[in-house]
Amino acid sequence: MKPRRQLAAAVATAAVLALAPSAIASAAPDQGGTKKPSVPADSLRALGDRQKLGIGTAVDDAHLGSDKPYTAIVADQFSVVTPENAMKWESVEPTRGTYDWAAADRLVAFAGEHGQQVRGHTLLWHNQLPSWLTTGVDNGTITKDQLREILHRHVTDEVTHFRGKIWQWDVANEVFANSWDPNPLPNGLNGDDFWIKNLGEGVLADVFRWAHQADPKALLFYNDYNIAGQDGSNAKFQAVHDFFAKLVAQGVPVNGIGEQGHLDTQYGFDGKRFQADLQSYGDLGLKVAVTEADVRTFVNNATEQVPTSQLAAFAQPYEFSQMLTACQLVDQCISFTAWGVYDGDSWIPGTFAGTGYGLLYDVNMAPKPAYYTLQQDLALAARPGGKK
Ligand code: XIL
Repeated sequence: MKPRRQLAAAVATAAVLALAPSAIASAAPDQGGTKKPSVPADSLRALGDRQKLGIGTAVDDAHLGSDKPYTAIVADQFSVVTPENAMKWESVEPTRGTYDWAAADRLVAFAGEHGQQVRGHTLLWHNQLPSWLTTGVDNGTITKDQLREILHRHVTDEVTHFRGKIWQWDVANEVFANSWDPNPLPNGLNGDDFWIKNLGEGVLADVFRWAHQADPKALLFYNDYNIAGQDGSNAKFQAVHDFFAKLVAQGVPVNGIGEQGHLDTQYGFDGKRFQADLQSYGDLGLKVAVTEADVRTFVNNATEQVPTSQLAAFAQPYEFSQMLTACQLVDQCISFTAWGVYDGDSWIPGTFAGTGYGLLYDVNMAPKPAYYTLQQDLALAARPGGKK
């Protein structure tokens, strides 16, 4: 059963959007993978297809295939998949010069079989770098010039390996400073970021150019968190907006901005600000995506993940809904992705101590109120014309 307030929120959303016809189509998205699978008509992906909105999840390679209920949820409910870790540098080149594409290839093949699109994640990031790289830079055996060449080769080889199979690439990830970071550059980039520190800010335009050369058809995204007003001041949004406005004006092949959407109920959330910021990115001529949505809250323990506050348990689906409806209301928003399938396999408890309950399915893989709320938002708000 859905609480009344969620219904009210969904109805309010529907009121400002054209109501869809009652028949529910189950076709895969136009721009989808190789097959058009039949999926439940009331699945998130089928409902998202009606408005040409990709509905995605991050996928954990350890569960895909072997874990049948998990695999069924991924196949039935989502039209877009992102490898949670399998395309990161430490995963694809654990030993210098030796690539291991196996896990990422498995996911890409799965997506092809299930009519899904793939978000590639991620090419330039300070985290989850192979230790041969960070150690080499630290001890000086990898010079700055060599590092630049190594990065160029990494971007070229990885994008080339998956050429034609990736819908959106997160080309660069998390290079802008937060209010608490000690060394922001005047334009808002994080001066302490591994890549900015070692190679200078010009490397950002370069990675987009290199990725574009390797796969001219992939949509190239910049991806970050708190870049749609969640920092309160909107300063991080402004920095990202102005930086990419400049790159677009210079003709750098950037196609989109991804807002990760990692929320925590203890901080509150301004859905209207979020929507306005996404729209501002869209107004630059860029596409927009919500790429890593989750809404964590304080829980009793990491195993059961029962919210400690009734109100927080209620805020969780509500904030999910605000993010999704913002994306629905911004024409340029092409996909909405949750960062993981279920609470029992979520990065949240291990990263943010004391919190959990962040995803759409619970620790037993049962759909939660957040799932039903998103389902309802999609069902009520579909625009017959779809996204532009
Ligand atoms: C996280 C994964 O979910 C974890 O499994 C991994 O241990 C660390 O990285 N922002 C990102 C994602 O861009 O790649 C991160 O994913 C979560 C934060």
